[in-house]
Amino acid sequence: MNLVVLTGAGISAESGLATFRDLGGTWSQVRLEEVATPEAFLADPARVQAFYDARRAQLRRVAPNPAHEALARLERAWTRGDFLLVTQNVDDLHERAGSRRLLHMHGELRSARCLACGADSPWDEDIRPESACTACGTAGRLRPHVVWFGEMPLYMEAIEVALSRCALFVSIGTSGQVWPAAGFVRMIPRDARSVEINPERSQMADAFAEHRRGPASVEVPRLVAELLA
Ligand code: APR
Repeated sequence: MNLVVLTGAGISAESGLATFRDLGGTWSQVRLEEVATPEAFLADPARVQAFYDARRAQLRRVAPNPAHEALARLERAWTRGDFLLVTQNVDDLHERAGSRRLLHMHGELRSARCLACGADSPWDEDIRPESACTACGTAGRLRPHVVWFGEMPLYMEAIEVALSRCALFVSIGTSGQVWPAAGFVRMIPRDARSVEINPERSQMADAFAEHRRGPASVEVPRLVAELLA
């Protein structure tokens, strides 16, 4: 019984990281066109770097919550088939909770991509104009290794294969407004089980057979306990 789990910003909300589209969310504080597109980076790299530097620094002040920990427990204990966790999040809370079979389809805050050699490398500090790529040594050519609007998400082939073979698809804490992740529920086998965990109805709620209307910190441990019983 192969399992695919998709997470969005909602799973990190109770850890203190803002979601994007909830009341007071990130995109109500700053316009995504000014900080999360290739055009924005070309127009004002310092402003884009500062936006990601602040979010990267915030990771040092938050911790995984029971939902992240439950998914890591599920991965370790899942012996009934394959397990894959796909996250839209760029935070490192899944890793810090112990998740390993994890794909960051929108990239990662704690990684920098070199525009000179194309390598992405672990990166924990601010990305400054003088910062040099740890792979090729070129200075001043680093950007956040985050997928911006208009760019292709990562690992799509592996994700599509996993979705096509899964018997259970669980979507946690995503509004279902951003593609291609919003369409994943339509890519699972007809007889696969689908569960949405979210206090609100997502835009894709109708495509899910089951809904657990509550916070991730309560509903994810509960679902994991059922699956491991
Ligand atoms: N537990 C579970 N879900 C929650 C919680 C919680 N405690 N709090 C909020 N949510 C839900 C909201 O109801 C909402 O449906 O999390 C969802 C957050 O939606 P968005 O802010 O749109 O975040 P997400 O779906 O991850 O956005 C997708 O958009 O901006 C881009 O690249 C960015 O990866 C992001 C993508």
